[in-house]
Amino acid sequence: MLGRVNHIAIAVPDLKAATSTYRDMLGAKVSKPQVLAEHGVTVVFVELPNTKIELLEPLGDASPILAFLDKNPSGGMHHVCYEVDDIIAARDRLKQAGARVLGDGEPKTGAHGKPVLFLHPKDFFGTLIELEQV
Ligand code: CO
Repeated sequence: MLGRVNHIAIAVPDLKAATSTYRDMLGAKVSKPQVLAEHGVTVVFVELPNTKIELLEPLGDASPILAFLDKNPSGGMHHVCYEVDDIIAARDRLKQAGARVLGDGEPKTGAHGKPVLFLHPKDFFGTLIELEQV
């Protein structure tokens, strides 16, 4: 069911500073910021030869990553995104196996304009999982 790692996401308190660290100190190619209002975050992607790193900054008072940054004020690894061929089939299979899908269980449009879902970290060894249909 799982395909490639699409990206690994790191929550950061200051997206400008994090962009500068990845671009100027680490010498990586970093995308322009993208506002994802539906997800309560602003993101950039660090493009690496084999995958991407997503840097996430909270957007708005109801951002789902505010609580995470309260616990991890300097930032931290937030989720891993795996690619799937069919997100509805993947969701139904996971739900049947007892995994919890976050939100209303319906896919939302992710940063790449493709359907995404998030799975409860307690069901996956403390790791928040994002599934993206590619
Ligand atoms: Co992501």
